[in-house]
Amino acid sequence: MTGITQLIRAKRDGEEHSPEEIRWIVEGAASGSIADYQLSAWLMAVYFSGMTPTETATLTAAMCASGARLDLSRVDRPIVDKHSTGGVGDKVSLVLAPIVASCGIAVPMISGRGLGHTGGTVDKLESIPGFVAEMPLAAIRAQVEEIGIALAAQTPELVPADRRLYALRDVTATVESLPLITASILSKKLAEDIDALVMDVKCGRGAFMRSLDDARALAASIRSVSDANGVRCSTLITAMDAPLGRRIGNWLEVCEAVRMLRGEEEPPLLTEVTLSLAGACIVAGGMAATLNEGIERARLAITDGSAYRLFLDVVRRQGGDVAAVEHAQEPAPTEVVLADESGIVNGIDALRLGMLGIDLGAGRRALDDTIAPQAGIILYRHIGEEVERGEPLCGVVEARMGVKVDPAALRACFTIGGETPEESRAVLEVELASPRS
Ligand code: URA
Repeated sequence: MTGITQLIRAKRDGEEHSPEEIRWIVEGAASGSIADYQLSAWLMAVYFSGMTPTETATLTAAMCASGARLDLSRVDRPIVDKHSTGGVGDKVSLVLAPIVASCGIAVPMISGRGLGHTGGTVDKLESIPGFVAEMPLAAIRAQVEEIGIALAAQTPELVPADRRLYALRDVTATVESLPLITASILSKKLAEDIDALVMDVKCGRGAFMRSLDDARALAASIRSVSDANGVRCSTLITAMDAPLGRRIGNWLEVCEAVRMLRGEEEPPLLTEVTLSLAGACIVAGGMAATLNEGIERARLAITDGSAYRLFLDVVRRQGGDVAAVEHAQEPAPTEVVLADESGIVNGIDALRLGMLGIDLGAGRRALDDTIAPQAGIILYRHIGEEVERGEPLCGVVEARMGVKVDPAALRACFTIGGETPEESRAVLEVELASPRS
């Protein structure tokens, strides 16, 4: 075994690491024995030189083995989770997890916090007064054994190597690397002891993967490494040019998700993405034979109220204020932006709106920034909808003292044209894993 300097040089020069070398680097990342500056240099070498599929699979397995695993061996249902590469207005998990769990599939959903312009499920859940997402592994296991679902945050014991590597990637411009994203996501999902995974690979202006080719490559990489580690994986490539639904911001998104779970709203783009991913989870769990059948099962879990009841049960068990969720009271906007022309909304820039959301306090720039749970953006018009000059286009909830968003910057996120845009599809490509054997 050579030292870290030689390994950085080897990767810089495009050489392939042996499995022992990768395991040694991951151990050094988890234990702290390799310095930040050397790990950062190695990450940059990987960013430029890439990794072979074998190296990526070894990196994933080594990262997964760097910490504890959730032991779900006593769960007597199929175990499936969904994960997304991150988007704006993406409250899919809040709706999908109770839908899928109410269909008899266990969903140990361990999620992250938002970073950059993309939101995080944990921040949304923690906007529910009292809700505890940071649960010990034993409590997650007990809740999944009992009711088939937990909505929890990453715990320090799970994949410690990713904590360190991700924090360094975030500040060294090495996030957008196919093998590093694959290993980061999958190491955490494999540690959940799941039978199958459904991956939502976002593609577009508001996503890490801007082009369809890049999204396809990431989806293929995740599928092959997941399969190599014994977890069947389906991938859906979904559009992330415009925000999902009409709310951006943590509490606002919880309220929107609650209205969806109660069958009161079918927000634009969000409904198609949520039902398709839920349908794919239901197929992966063996509770439907085809995607369409899975989608029908998912719809039924909304219309018969079972998904909403289960969501309320999760909120109650995890310390959240059930009455606050049932009333789902949204704060009034502090500023409303009116359309300065009549026409049809042709585009809404998810990336720019996501960045404005951060300015409001709905997201964070650094890991230790605090969130303003009520802050956010309300879209009164979405893609393909008509607006008359003087009608509301969007509103903002400014919930932090001294924070104001420039209305002109919000207006600039909307493209208004004279013609109806080509139908914008939310789900671009689907690859289902082979059924449960
Ligand atoms: N989400 C993760 O958990 N890791 C990445 O590298 C990218 C998105």
